Amino acid sequence: MQTSCIMGQVVQISKRDTKVGQKDRQQTAVVAEGLTFSYGSVKALDGLDLEVPEGVSFGLLGPNGAGKTTLIRILVGLLSPQGGEARVLGEQPSPSVAAQIGYMPQLPALYGELSVAENIEFFAQVYGMKGRAERMERVEEMVRLVDLWERRKELAMNLSGGMRQRVSLACALVHGPRLLFLDEPTVGLDPQLRAAFWDYFHELTHQGITLVISSHTMDDAARCGRLAFLRMGRTIAQGTPQELRAATGDPDVDLEAAFLHFARQETGGDVL
Ligand SMILES: Nc1ncnc2c1ncn2[C@@H]1O[C@H](COP(=O)(O)OP(=O)(O)O)[C@@H](O)[C@H]1O
Ligand SMILES: [Mg+2]
Repeated sequence: MQTSCIMGQVVQISKRDTKVGQKDRQQTAVVAEGLTFSYGSVKALDGLDLEVPEGVSFGLLGPNGAGKTTLIRILVGLLSPQGGEARVLGEQPSPSVAAQIGYMPQLPALYGELSVAENIEFFAQVYGMKGRAERMERVEEMVRLVDLWERRKELAMNLSGGMRQRVSLACALVHGPRLLFLDEPTVGLDPQLRAAFWDYFHELTHQGITLVISSHTMDDAARCGRLAFLRMGRTIAQGTPQELRAATGDPDVDLEAAFLHFARQETGGDVL
């Protein structure tokens, strides 16, 4: 057995299972059809559909409460949908695909009493990277990717919010996932750091990694290769930023106006 981990939740996966899904590269990284999920009487997902092609940076755009976190938690296998179906890298979300995906939760889940490098190494270990030399090389690569080499020995509890987010990104990436789920990774970042994050993201998609990035800002939306607009637990539109703007009938509108256009279509005028 090999141990895998999705930010704190350690799960067991068999060696055989880790090979599943590594056969051929699928055309579609994520498909969801009619997903439903309620927390008691609160409906979080209400028949949500989604299709994420491989190798793109895909934005899940929607206001707070739209269902982004619930959707991501289903796709990484932390929640089971109550209705509908999801496929991630061709399989139902489960521990067997966890080894191929990375997850950066909305709130960084780091160990405060471990240093930057130790946090990243911890995640490398639970993802099953056994050889110390290889592991340390990868940790160093990740520390450098997120520009924290000078701070690598600093305890996580002493870091600023932006630095914690960078460490959290490194933890999600350390085992070399093909598909990465990032839940509001740019919230609270200053413009310079936000731009740096987008440089990392573009570098990752350049390497063929699929990114699913949730956000409620149109600044992030404009930088994604493809988008789904989410509202009240449903997908109200999907396409490239250009396609979504053009579908409003005026290709010069911004994405915020495009979102409102689709929200109005959905409700017959009322967007609240
Ligand atoms: N643990 C929970 N218990 C009860 N309601 C929840 C819980 N988590 C989320 N919700 C509700 O589900 C809906 C969708 O939430 P969420 O998936 O967090 O959306 P988003 O990430 O887009 O803000 C919201 O109405 C939210 O209040
Ligand atoms: Mg959320």
